[in-house]
Amino acid sequence: MSENQPLSLGKENYQNFAERYAAAIETKPHNAYYERPATLSLLPNNVQGLRVLDAGCGPGIYTQWLLDLGAEVVACDVTPKMVEITRQRVGNSAEVYCADLEQPLTFAGDRSFDLVVCPLVLDYLLDWYPVFCEFFRVLKSDGILVFSCGHPTADFIYSQSQNVTSADYFKIEDFVMEWRLFGKPYPIIKSYRRPLQAILNPLIQAGFCLDRILEPQPTESFKIADAEGYEHLMRSPGFICVRSHKPGQVVG
Ligand SMILES: C[S@@+](CC[C@H](N)C(=O)[O-])C[C@H]1O[C@@H](n2cnc3c(N)ncnc32)[C@H](O)[C@@H]1O
Repeated sequence: MSENQPLSLGKENYQNFAERYAAAIETKPHNAYYERPATLSLLPNNVQGLRVLDAGCGPGIYTQWLLDLGAEVVACDVTPKMVEITRQRVGNSAEVYCADLEQPLTFAGDRSFDLVVCPLVLDYLLDWYPVFCEFFRVLKSDGILVFSCGHPTADFIYSQSQNVTSADYFKIEDFVMEWRLFGKPYPIIKSYRRPLQAILNPLIQAGFCLDRILEPQPTESFKIADAEGYEHLMRSPGFICVRSHKPGQVVG
């Protein structure tokens, strides 16, 4: 990385927050009872024997889940502390790389994965077309990409609520939020907010076929843990989850 290139937003946010994040999200309702069940519902029913890339693995919860179900997992994350935590979690049972999704994935060969999962990571990347092209390159024909990110409507409403009077739904904009559900001091997390077309069009331009969009609602376990948050998320979007695939060769 050249001196003039900005530090990855991912690393900036998470290097000093990784341990708290890792400790919280095993049971934090937004992750455990909302985002993860939704994203996992988009994965193939049987992942046994599949070669999976966990792109932006964070503390490795998805990596562990996939390993437990018999997948062969390669994980990567831009934040060294996250890589360390994932390595501690899974030992030698997965390859874990410190890698930036904004750069070519040099550790991954062409057509070498059946599945790429990328939950709650892309919000930290400005330009999604190159990373979708990389996911396309490393997937086999008919390989599946599942990702989740902030819901474009939810994030725009939040921007407006912060009196960002210049907020423009149709632009990709800086999105800064104080996260209050991880204890104090509250981390200030920087990411990008984008319209729906800026989520889906780079995916389609990279060659993927869209299979399913999920605007999830929380599970019943969320209600037990946080009744107020549950009522809110039953009526307002929070995340969006997308499943797509790399089309196989067209015959004829
Ligand atoms: C909200 S956490 C999600 C972690 C994990 N996917 C999960 O859902 O449990 C976001 C993760 O994305 C990683 N990340 C952000 N930008 C990245 C980039 N450019 N390349 C690789 N990882 C990145 C961060 O380091 C962090 O671990």
